Amino acid sequence: MSNRAQFVTKMGVIAATVGSAVGLGNIWRFPYEAGLHGGGAFLIVYLLCVFLLGIPVMIAEFVIGRSTHSNALTALKKLKPDSHISAVSYVGIVASLMILSFYSVVAGWIMEYLYQALMGGLSGHTAEEYATLFSSFTVNGWRTVMWTLLFLLINFMVLRRGVEKGIERLSNVLMPVLFVILVVFCINSLMMPRAAEGLNFLFNPDFTALTPKVVLGALGQAFFSLSLGLTCLLTYASYFSDRTPLVRSATVVALLDTLVAILSGIIIFPAVFSFGMEPAAGPKLVFQILPEIFQQLPGGYLWSVAFFLLLFFASLTSTISMSEISITYFVEAHKMSRNRATGLNTAIAAAFGTLCALSFGVLSDLKVAGLTLFELFDYVSSNVLLPLGGVMLSVFVGWIVDKKVVEEQLTDYGARRITLLRPIRFCIRYVAPVSISLIFLYGLGVL
Ligand code: TRP
Repeated sequence: MSNRAQFVTKMGVIAATVGSAVGLGNIWRFPYEAGLHGGGAFLIVYLLCVFLLGIPVMIAEFVIGRSTHSNALTALKKLKPDSHISAVSYVGIVASLMILSFYSVVAGWIMEYLYQALMGGLSGHTAEEYATLFSSFTVNGWRTVMWTLLFLLINFMVLRRGVEKGIERLSNVLMPVLFVILVVFCINSLMMPRAAEGLNFLFNPDFTALTPKVVLGALGQAFFSLSLGLTCLLTYASYFSDRTPLVRSATVVALLDTLVAILSGIIIFPAVFSFGMEPAAGPKLVFQILPEIFQQLPGGYLWSVAFFLLLFFASLTSTISMSEISITYFVEAHKMSRNRATGLNTAIAAAFGTLCALSFGVLSDLKVAGLTLFELFDYVSSNVLLPLGGVMLSVFVGWIVDKKVVEEQLTDYGARRITLLRPIRFCIRYVAPVSISLIFLYGLGVL
C-alpha cells in the first residue's frame, strides 16, 4: 500500500509540473517564434537554452521551494532574511499578470476554434478562407474580448472553488491523449507533399539567421515554455515530498515539454510549406494552418474537436499555475481572503486582457516602441522579465543560499548520489547567470 501511495504522489508531482509547463507555449508560441526566427538555428539555440540554462534555473526554483515548503516571498525570506532577493517576487507577480492577460486572449481564440469545430465551421473552406477566418475573427474585437473574459471566468471559478486539484487530475488523464493526438498529426504532416521542406526549415540550421535578438527570443521562449523565472515552479516544489528526485524531475519535465514543442513544429512546418504559406506569420501561424490540416485528415471533425478541447485544458492548467503566483502574494502579504485575491487576479487580467484582445482590432494603431499592446505584453514578459527572474533565482541559489542546503536538496536529503552534482552547481553559479545576462544585454542592444 505504502509503495503505491508513494508512486501516486511521485507521478502527481511531475504531472502537475508538466501541466504547468505544457500549454500554449509549446503548441502556439514555439512554432510562431521558430517560424519568425529562421527555424533550425532558432531550434538549436532553444535546445541549448533549455538544457544549459533552463534545467539549472528549474533546479534552483525547486531547491528554494522544497527546502522551505513555503510560497515564494516567505521562502526567500526564510533562506536569507535580510537580502533584497524578495524583489524577484515582484518580478514574478507583475510578469505573471502580464502573461495571464495575453495568454487568456489566445486561450479565447482556442475556445472560438473549439466552438467553430463543434459547429462544423472548420470544414469545407479553401485555404484562403481559413487564413482570413482568423483575421476576420480577431478584427472583430468584441467577440475575442468575450472569449477572453469567458476563459478568465472559468479560470476564476476553478481557482475559487479550489478544484485545481480536480482539474489537474483530469488533465493528467487528458495530457497523454493530447500527446497521442499530436503524434497522429505528426504522421499526417510527414506524409504531406512538401514535408521535406518543412523538416529542412525546422531542423537544418542556417546560422546566418542568428542575431542577438534571435538568441534572446529563444531564451525567452525556453523560459516561457518551462514556466521559469517567476517562482511558479518554486511554489509547486514547495509541495514536493522529501523523496521527490529533484534533479531527475527537472530533467523529465524539461524533456517532455521540449518533446511537445518539437512535435508541434513537426506538425506545423511541413503543412506550412505544403500549403504554400509563410513560416514567419507570427501569432496567427497555427490558427491559419490547423484548420487546413484537419480538413485533410479523415474524420477531421472529431480530430479538431478533440484537439481544441484538450488544448483548452492544457491552457487552463498553465493559467492556474501562473495565477497562483499573485493570489498567494495577495493572501500572504496583504492578508486578503483567498476569494478576494482570486477576484483581484482575475480583474487585473480581465482589464489588460481586454486591451490585448482589442489590439488586433480597434486598438491596432496604439503602439508602444512599435509594438501593439498584445506584442508588448508578450515581449516584455518573456524577453525581459523571465530572464531577469532567472538570473536572480540562480544567483540566489548559487551564491547566497547556504551550500549545505543546496547539496541536501540536490541529493534529496542524502538519499541519492548525483553524479553531475558539481556540473549542476557550476551551471547554477556561473553558466546560467552569466549567459542569461549576456544574452539579455546583447539581445536588447545594450551591449
Ligand atoms: N509554460 C506555460 C506554457 O508553455 C506558460 C506558463 C505557465 C508560464 N506558468 C508560467 C510561463 C510561469 C512563465 C511563468 O504554456
